[in-house]
Amino acid sequence: MQIGILGGTFDPIHKGHIEIAKNALSICNLDKVIIMVAANPPHKTDNDKRTPADIRFEMTKNALEEFEYIEASDIELHREGKSYTVDTLHYLKEIYPDDDLCFIVGGDMLLNLPKWYHVKEIFSLAKIIAFIRKGIDADYGEVVKKLKSDFSARIELVESEIKEVSSTEIRNKIHDSLPVDNLITSTTEEFIHMNMLYLSDEIKSLQEKVKPMLTEKRYIHTISTAITSIKLANKYGADTRKAHIASILHDCAKYVQNPESLCEKYGITLDKYELQEKELIHAKLGSVIAKNEFHIEDDEIINAIRYHTTGKENMTTLEKVIYLADAIEPHRKYDGVKRLRQLSMESLDEAVIASLEGTIHHLNNSGSTIHPDSIRAYEYLKGQEK
Ligand SMILES: [Fe+2]
Ligand SMILES: [Fe+2]
Repeated sequence: MQIGILGGTFDPIHKGHIEIAKNALSICNLDKVIIMVAANPPHKTDNDKRTPADIRFEMTKNALEEFEYIEASDIELHREGKSYTVDTLHYLKEIYPDDDLCFIVGGDMLLNLPKWYHVKEIFSLAKIIAFIRKGIDADYGEVVKKLKSDFSARIELVESEIKEVSSTEIRNKIHDSLPVDNLITSTTEEFIHMNMLYLSDEIKSLQEKVKPMLTEKRYIHTISTAITSIKLANKYGADTRKAHIASILHDCAKYVQNPESLCEKYGITLDKYELQEKELIHAKLGSVIAKNEFHIEDDEIINAIRYHTTGKENMTTLEKVIYLADAIEPHRKYDGVKRLRQLSMESLDEAVIASLEGTIHHLNNSGSTIHPDSIRAYEYLKGQEK
């Protein structure tokens, strides 16, 4: 068996890593690739703020579940002190005595290899597969020749067109409530938000506070709505930070005990539709809780929460984004949701119209009353189309 080893901090694992592993499997005929999550790699200082190793491993394992022949290993996490590649390779050689180990590196790493701890042993334990970027990286011919003569190294150069992805860029974007769906898989994006990694302090504290107010299922829905709303807000020119906050809080009143008496406490007047259809109360009450208990002052955010269930006449882009994200986030399952998701990538208004249409149709069929705000929202947008 030919086994590839790709090491790194994976903070977080991204599409660039996965592409390298997939390319190594197909181009170099490997049987599997082990993603080696580093505990304390020698080339980084201890004081940079890194996500704890057990969480990085969990995140990597989680990300790789959907890919065949690529697996995460935590062996470096269980080793005391600094983790050296040579120790990892010795360990793997014990587990796989009859197999070939292939250590996967990038071009820059190849240049640095001669300085690595016990490099001669590394070369004797594993073949090196070096990924170099076509037309960007320098000519490695001479370097390879020298490594071969100095260390009898076995080196395979693989020219690739894999796009360089930076983990730092991903962390910064998540911190700034920006979409990263082109850089990491949706599984990883959900893991990051669920575990509150890389988030700004503001978002993190709101999320920490709202989490115990929700059921596990509602928390997942909330996170998923947030990720979807960031993407939509970015696409349609709404403020992604506001979308993030509104999503995190949109269902905060879903499980309050005695919502009617809380409405009374806050002086909220419920209309006859809300009194009849209790499900509607959480939007209005949620907007007041967001203001009073989460100290959100921004009216745009408050209104996006306030109208996330019914919609309303002349909605702002942010209101449409939250309304739609809530309806189409990936965990939602109902007839027509796939079409809405597709439509949401083409036109925000068309998608909101289609969603309102679906709701009105569904309520009509089940004999429930429809809130006039939904009718007004629908008629207003239809009127805009003409
Ligand atoms: Fe809701
Ligand atoms: Fe919701």
